[in-house]
Amino acid sequence: MIASDVSLKKFNTFGIDVSAKLFSQAENEDHVRNVIQSNEFKKNSTLILGGGSNLLFTKDFNGLVLKNHIQGIEILEETDDFVFVKVGGGVVWHDFVLHCIDKGWNGVENLSLIPGNVGASPMQNIGAYGVEIKEVFHELEAIHLKSGEIHYFRNEDCCFGYRDSVFKNKVKGEYLISRVIYKLSKKPNYNISYGAIEKQLENMGIKDLSAKSVSDAVIAIRQSKLPDPSKIGNSGSFFKNPIVTQSTFDSIKLKFPNVVAYPAGEDLMKLAAGWLIEQAGWKGKTYGNYGVHKNQALVLVNYGGASGKEIYDLSSRILDSIKEKFGVNLEREVNIY
Ligand code: EPU
Repeated sequence: MIASDVSLKKFNTFGIDVSAKLFSQAENEDHVRNVIQSNEFKKNSTLILGGGSNLLFTKDFNGLVLKNHIQGIEILEETDDFVFVKVGGGVVWHDFVLHCIDKGWNGVENLSLIPGNVGASPMQNIGAYGVEIKEVFHELEAIHLKSGEIHYFRNEDCCFGYRDSVFKNKVKGEYLISRVIYKLSKKPNYNISYGAIEKQLENMGIKDLSAKSVSDAVIAIRQSKLPDPSKIGNSGSFFKNPIVTQSTFDSIKLKFPNVVAYPAGEDLMKLAAGWLIEQAGWKGKTYGNYGVHKNQALVLVNYGGASGKEIYDLSSRILDSIKEKFGVNLEREVNIY
């Protein structure tokens, strides 16, 4: 059930070649309970792994990696308007999106092609093109790693924020998210407010909106800007878009009139980190086998064979340069191990 010295290369989308001292792949709740009751789990540092799409390994993991591979898509309740569907935390996110489109369930089409698994979707409140998971999230089941009990978290219990939830803060490291229940609409209810989607639909000559057409537009946009992790190692946005006060924004705008930003609540503005990084001259910079992606400066890439430490050090140099040029503190979005 628990293997030794397992390569993690195919379990992280950066494709970093490190190994785990101990490794187990959980197919169901009983498997998780057996592992967490074992001495190996109790005596070692541990890491719960989903799709491995939001982390960077900078060294071998000297502990036990428990990969969540719990499968299953099950309808719990269905009305004329809605469906409540329970999905295993180990289901690949985009496979679930395609399943919804196929069944005519709406709400996740804007989140097409986001790398990672279902279990991570509430963890960091995944979002793209004007939609966040919190809008379709109903409830989740999580296994408490100390007691083995299943605990339930409703939407309000998750304290969702921008790329944030209770699982990254108050209860960090305490749970494995085993199943997620989403509430999806059976009535058309599409969000094409994000400028790029409207433009893309127009370019594709699509007039009749459907979850499929919106998804196709999102996929086309993502493919034009973001590297495919199955071809070039990456973890999507490496940094978060920083949120600053209106007065900080005003002083940045005085010096940099073209700065890209969006309102983010009262007296707050969210700056486009990709713009800041591009302006600081990093976009497309390549150092041997790693660098900053040429189409989206928020994304760091491993062209093959780079170490996590090299990519981490690059991210530190970017943080320093953004602080120096704009006086803004960027935060990493990916988790560093
Ligand atoms: N921009 C640049 N240069 C760049 C990249 C962006 O100038 O290299 C400017 C452009 O003006 C662009 C604006 O930044 O209009 C926003 O760019 P984009 O629409 O690509 O979005 P983003 O803010 O860079 C965020 C998410 C993405 C998500 C997109 C679309 C974060 C950290 N990233 O990126 O999420 O796909 O919006 O909604 O919030 C991810 O989290 O891994 C991810 C890819």
